[in-house]
Amino acid sequence: MNSILIKNGQWLHPAGKLISSNLLLQDGHIVDLDAALQTRTDQIIDAAGQLILPGAIDPHVHFREPGQLYKEGIVQGGRAALKGGVTTVIDMPNNIPPCTTAKRLEEKKALFRKKALVNWGLMLHSRNGNYHYPVSGVMAAKVYMAKSSALPAVNKTGYIENILRQFPVVAFHAEDESFFISDPAVVQHHEKRPRQAVTGALVKIEEALRRLPADIKPNVVICHMNTADELFWLERMRREGFKVFGETAPHYLYFTQEDYLRDGAVFKVNPAIRSAQDQSALRAGLASGRVDFIGTDHAPHPPAEKNGTAPPSGIAGIEWLTPLMLNFVDSGQISWLRYQQLMTENAAKAYRIAGRDGIRQGNFGDLVLVQKSEAWQPADEIVTHAATNPFTKITLHYKVTLTLVNGIIKYNGSEFFEQARGMEIGPAHG
Ligand code: NCD
Ligand code: ZN
Ligand code: ZN
Ligand code: ZN
Repeated sequence: MNSILIKNGQWLHPAGKLISSNLLLQDGHIVDLDAALQTRTDQIIDAAGQLILPGAIDPHVHFREPGQLYKEGIVQGGRAALKGGVTTVIDMPNNIPPCTTAKRLEEKKALFRKKALVNWGLMLHSRNGNYHYPVSGVMAAKVYMAKSSALPAVNKTGYIENILRQFPVVAFHAEDESFFISDPAVVQHHEKRPRQAVTGALVKIEEALRRLPADIKPNVVICHMNTADELFWLERMRREGFKVFGETAPHYLYFTQEDYLRDGAVFKVNPAIRSAQDQSALRAGLASGRVDFIGTDHAPHPPAEKNGTAPPSGIAGIEWLTPLMLNFVDSGQISWLRYQQLMTENAAKAYRIAGRDGIRQGNFGDLVLVQKSEAWQPADEIVTHAATNPFTKITLHYKVTLTLVNGIIKYNGSEFFEQARGMEIGPAHG
């Protein structure tokens, strides 16, 4: 049916090398990694001077549907994703109403089937109590150990154990709210939600994991790591054979609590952005492999709210994800191999996503073409509704010139092509 030849570019091999050969896509899949230039196809893309990278998996986004369309929405979030070179997202369940039941999950899936521009998967919002979850068809159960929706936090070891027994993948907002400080004399965000809330959460997760029988070994994801402590914990738990994974977000790599102290709400996020030492540990973790993958935690709030008197927490970064992470390759801080792992492969492993772990024969045609550019800043071309955004002043060195989802061009550096919907992702290759 539909075929595309991408010629003259260099593509990122999953082993971390850039390869000069022509890619052939057919019916949404990568079918040949070394196609003859003469191959007859419906379409030819000349990628001269460009790099062809795997489309990023962003396993942590808040597109805010249902319930808060004014903050973003599946379509607007999808555009921001395409612009950032993201071809697959996992959307978080802290909606209005929270995505807690099979019925709500099905309703939310119907919205994504109708509107999603990129590939997508959903999580289930777990509940406080020894609840039986008769739910399948989710990427993971999400455990909020601090309140993040209308529901109370889940921060009792027994309840966490119960969830770990029922789901093959469990993702944690690992901040235990019982450590939060309500003393009105404490005013700074990172002091009200101190590091002890993170380390205390890890203690409970570890306790719950140790209670499981040997034949129950769920994948555990520590979302949005913001401390050096989480990196040490992961390493120790891995050594003991637990299947633990750590995600961090670009804002923890680019900023510190000093930025928050200077500029306030624009840097207000949960968990809080912490010290320069935490930042450098996380950056080192990119290179060493202690950080498994990147999720943006794209958490959009409109400027009126961010600039208001009670600004909500959340930073929206998906729109620049690929150039933000290419900065670390460009400066020599991470290898191409690490880029591959951080942006697709390890999230695919942790969340069991088939066919989207990089540029391999048989995988889906989820690709992003980038070009080295003059240094630029995102300031004046913002798609997300979250325009009060700390990334607007960051200097970037690559531009996304083309984003393909399932072998279909969805963005060309200036326009979006929105006819085709993204696919639901999962453990079986569709
Ligand atoms: C997120 C949101 O706004 O939904 N906010 C945030 O500060 N990260 C919730 C979350 O990821 O914990
Ligand atoms: Zn969270
Ligand atoms: Zn989040
Ligand atoms: Zn397939």
